[in-house]
Amino acid sequence: MLLSCAFINLKPGVGKTTSAVWLAHALYELGRPPLLVDGDPAGSALRWSELAGGFPFPVIALPVGDVHRRIDDFLGLRKAVVHDAPQLEDHARIARSIMRHADEWIVPVTPAPIELDRMAPIGAEMGDVQSLRARPARTAVLLNRTNRPDATRTGPDADAREVLAERGFDVLDTQIARLDLYSQSFGGPVRAQDTAYMDLAEELIKRQENA
Ligand SMILES: Nc1ncnc2c1ncn2[C@@H]1O[C@H](COP(=O)(O)OP(=O)(O)O)[C@@H](O)[C@H]1O
Ligand SMILES: [Mg+2]
Repeated sequence: MLLSCAFINLKPGVGKTTSAVWLAHALYELGRPPLLVDGDPAGSALRWSELAGGFPFPVIALPVGDVHRRIDDFLGLRKAVVHDAPQLEDHARIARSIMRHADEWIVPVTPAPIELDRMAPIGAEMGDVQSLRARPARTAVLLNRTNRPDATRTGPDADAREVLAERGFDVLDTQIARLDLYSQSFGGPVRAQDTAYMDLAEELIKRQENA
């Protein structure tokens, strides 16, 4: 079965591209080499792969409003696809098309009040696109740039989990800490082993299997 996931948000700068690139490497390292689709007209994921001398799986830029109809032509026998969606507020047509294709929508969110406040419009957008799909997509919040690594769940991270759950959002168990490892990684090769992105890949595979 195809694992098809997309990183989405209303806003830029939340960690969509960083997460898409690291997750794609984690899937590769787990033996599920993905197709990485750069849906952002800014082309950062594609540029990253170019600067890194290529990734060990294909990366294509497809910043168009009919990705959901075109993507099968590029998938071949691949078992996984990771979409790096552009921010919904500027590129709604492209982002919605990606959401029509992807079976799992992952919303990276920093545990800070200003980002939590944006979840209501994201929820409304997700509801609109669900109605265009034959089967509803799974949706999940990924806490990114957290203050602590995944083991300790105290302070703002725990508060954010509680607020999101109260508002009806599914929050992934895996969370991604705020680390120089990630902020400095653009343009270089990536090795996901021993990082939380391996846990994220495994969690997403489990969610698909249990769906
Ligand atoms: N977990 C993290 N820890 C530290 N810096 C991060 C983390 N995730 C993302 N960043 C940084 O935050 C900035 C925005 O991330 P990016 O992936 O480009 O966001 P988006 O694609 O949503 O615009 C980048 O400078 C990136 O390096
Ligand atoms: Mg980006």
